[in-house]
Amino acid sequence: MTLAPPPSSRVQLTEDGKLRHFLSVEHLPRSLLEDILDTAASFVDVGGRAIKKVPLLRGKTVVNLFFESSTRTRSTFELAAKRLSADVLNLDIAKSATSKGETLLDTLRNLEAMAADMFVVRHGDSGAAHFIAEHVCPQVAIINGGDGRHAHPTQGMLDMLTIRRHKGSFENLSVAIVGDILHSRVARSNMLALKTLGCPDIRVIAPKTLLPVGIEQYGVKVYTDMTTGLKDVDVVIMLRLQRERMAGGLLPSEGEFYRLFGLTTARLAGAKPDAIVMHPGPINRGVEIESAVADGNQSVILNQVTYGIAVRMAVLSMAMSGQTAQRQFEQEKAQ
Ligand code: CP
Repeated sequence: MTLAPPPSSRVQLTEDGKLRHFLSVEHLPRSLLEDILDTAASFVDVGGRAIKKVPLLRGKTVVNLFFESSTRTRSTFELAAKRLSADVLNLDIAKSATSKGETLLDTLRNLEAMAADMFVVRHGDSGAAHFIAEHVCPQVAIINGGDGRHAHPTQGMLDMLTIRRHKGSFENLSVAIVGDILHSRVARSNMLALKTLGCPDIRVIAPKTLLPVGIEQYGVKVYTDMTTGLKDVDVVIMLRLQRERMAGGLLPSEGEFYRLFGLTTARLAGAKPDAIVMHPGPINRGVEIESAVADGNQSVILNQVTYGIAVRMAVLSMAMSGQTAQRQFEQEKAQ
């Protein structure tokens, strides 16, 4: 399945502008992204409590539908839903009837018949989450857990929360995104979110073969050299080489990539002294990042994972309340 994602805001917002599905940060207003960050910030402390639960989604059912592998996204969505007191079903796709030829839509219809309220979907095809959102029954909310090269909106927002908590705001910040931009849904979500939130200096650093055509449309500065690209930045976001999405022949070797684009202690010294180092994971040590940097005192890579739970709690609770508001609106209109 290869699907062109439609404009996001039409599908994912209620008639009064609330979140109904969360498919992409594209076309979402700054106020809504700030709402997600503020709501997430209010949930950060829940993880430190003796009883890590709030009752916001009590009686609701969240289904994790992951057609691609995941460690962080799947488990933090599960924890987020449980901390909101929802019931959680993790569908094991490898053992599901999908392997017997059942279509995606038939699988969805069956889960709808079990009265599921939300689906968190990860899929290898760009546009899969939009496709599901357009075909699912009206009372179900869809959250995109990453679709092909297109979008990973909750990763984008947890990265924004991490930056805001370490740097205070996005004004006057220089942020560099480094590595395999071409295949990265995280890079796209981050570029869009940073732009919307007012970051004035967004840089991408990559070999020419790992830059998408039309990258300038994101309002970023493009560098093919680490020394100039990292100069005086406040935030460095490293990306993994997405070998599973590469057709081949885009890179001479991993060793060559590390020599030219790996984040080493020496290269990081060109950024501001208080620069933070981020990575969505999984990290490949010695391929895009030196171990001393990944484990060093400027690294906030594991903080990102912790903030991921709070952001996913925010998105699940906001989409559920948007969904309820939209249903009430439609019921009133029908009367
Ligand atoms: N960052 C991220 O999406 O990691 P996973 O693939 O482990 O979910």
